[in-house]
Amino acid sequence: MRYLITSALPYINGIKHLGNLVGSMLPADVYARFLRQEGEDVLYICATDEHGTPAEIAALEAGLDVAEFCKRQYERQADIYQRFGLSFNYFGRTSAPENHELTQHFYYQLDQHGFIEAREISQVYSLDDERFLPDRYITGTCPNCGYEKARGDQCENCTKVLSPTDLIDPRSTISGSKNLEVRTSQHLYLLLDKLSEEVRSWVEQQEQWPTLTKAIAMKWLNEGLQSRGITRDLSWGVPVPREGFEDKVFYVWFDAPIGYVSATKAWGEAEAGRDWQSWWKNADDVRYTQFMAKDNLPFHTIMWPATILGSREPWKMADYIKGFNWLNYYGGKFSTSSKRGVFLDQALEIAPADDWRYMLMASAPESSDSAFTWEQFQNKVNKELADNLGNFVNRILKFTASRFGNELPAGGEPGEAEAQLQATCQQLIETLRTHLHNLEFRKATEALNALWTAGNQYIDVRAPWALFKQDKAEAAVVIRTCVNLIRLYAIAAAPFIPFTAETLFDALQLTDAERSATMTAAADLSALAAGRAFEVPPPLFQKLDDDRVAELKAQFGGE
Ligand code: MF3
Ligand code: ZN
Repeated sequence: MRYLITSALPYINGIKHLGNLVGSMLPADVYARFLRQEGEDVLYICATDEHGTPAEIAALEAGLDVAEFCKRQYERQADIYQRFGLSFNYFGRTSAPENHELTQHFYYQLDQHGFIEAREISQVYSLDDERFLPDRYITGTCPNCGYEKARGDQCENCTKVLSPTDLIDPRSTISGSKNLEVRTSQHLYLLLDKLSEEVRSWVEQQEQWPTLTKAIAMKWLNEGLQSRGITRDLSWGVPVPREGFEDKVFYVWFDAPIGYVSATKAWGEAEAGRDWQSWWKNADDVRYTQFMAKDNLPFHTIMWPATILGSREPWKMADYIKGFNWLNYYGGKFSTSSKRGVFLDQALEIAPADDWRYMLMASAPESSDSAFTWEQFQNKVNKELADNLGNFVNRILKFTASRFGNELPAGGEPGEAEAQLQATCQQLIETLRTHLHNLEFRKATEALNALWTAGNQYIDVRAPWALFKQDKAEAAVVIRTCVNLIRLYAIAAAPFIPFTAETLFDALQLTDAERSATMTAAADLSALAAGRAFEVPPPLFQKLDDDRVAELKAQFGGE
């Protein structure tokens, strides 16, 4: 079995916030890192989603040509994700030539099999802006929930998918003008209604999908699928290869998921000779997992599968779709458009990536929406990372260096306490692995924290500092066990806090083989033997005191 992993492609329009990270790229990365560690063949693909009105609007605001804007934003995002330790095998762009080509290919296939229809439709035209106002170029009140800033394509508040003409009291997003009229023009439609039964039977086969994913898919199917416009009056995007459509491009949600495939193709080309097709075509030996926030679920459970089914080609469809609820920021959503919450560049100025990675996975909105609070962040960093993990490491290594020198001491034999600790660790590692296989990230961090607690309980009982004065050999056993435990901690935590794991690997001077051991193998607490050299690393985590928390709350409006 090979593992294909994708996380929803982040929009190009700006730096993402913590809410975006927790619901897509970060859990996908933890999963990818875990599977690689288990020795699996993993391909983790992501890309920037560059087309559509959000990109054009953001470029307009930045005063840049949209291609140049996207290029700069792509580089900024790629840099930030690297600093967060996101281990994509490839991070592509939907504006890449591979995506243009494949999008047109999917269109030809769908058209050839009778799933595309050209229709004359009415659209909102702005007289002041002298243009049509598709999707986000129009703002108004949501007919479903009454939210006043709903966009023409989807209501951000209630997630209902809309058409521009559905909005109440519509206005132009560009100029605010209400001087609008309805004009007709030709557009292409994807006949989802014709594919409805096929999509339904695919969804119904997905017995192991999470409840949230399945519920959203079934709701859509039961409401009845309607044909959906897949072209827009824009210039930035994938051109529509059809007579009479020279001034139009495909709708961003048509070409974006194709980005998963095309970025894999770009990966194959970048790593000359890698067989990208085998991951996507007739790929029965591939297990494909997708990660995304809940607003993306309709597109991934219905529209993208319909595109694939209608192509009549054997493209890989998701085996598992992990959907996340919202991470809220003080009573509201994190929001890019209203600049609410903490953005990724700001986050890295506040604390190192690992602090965020751990905290976010520990509070992942898996079974319901969850709340980000600065106290929660402080609590996770101070109590779990700094006290439970960091302190253990520093106390043990400092003590050993000062009493025995920078080598693991010899003498003594592991006894009952060590056997018990070993059994506890093996059990917790199995629990952790199970949670990770099941994509239960919160529970996984709980198991990890329990593992750290087990070590602290062990040294409370065995008290090597006191033991040293009575029985050096016995103290040496405890020390060796603890240093092995530190290696296990590093390996078990590596998917979550890879930078810290690396620091620990270096401190313990592990060989490449020792670094890449599985958790199961590392649960052998006598693997590193007497005589091994080590170094004492600087403190692993910095605590946040109450004053700092108050400062952050004031700065980011957390009341
Ligand atoms: N850009 C979209 C968002 O941020 C996600 C696109 S996912 C893909 O909500 F399917 F289009 F790739
Ligand atoms: Zn709404």
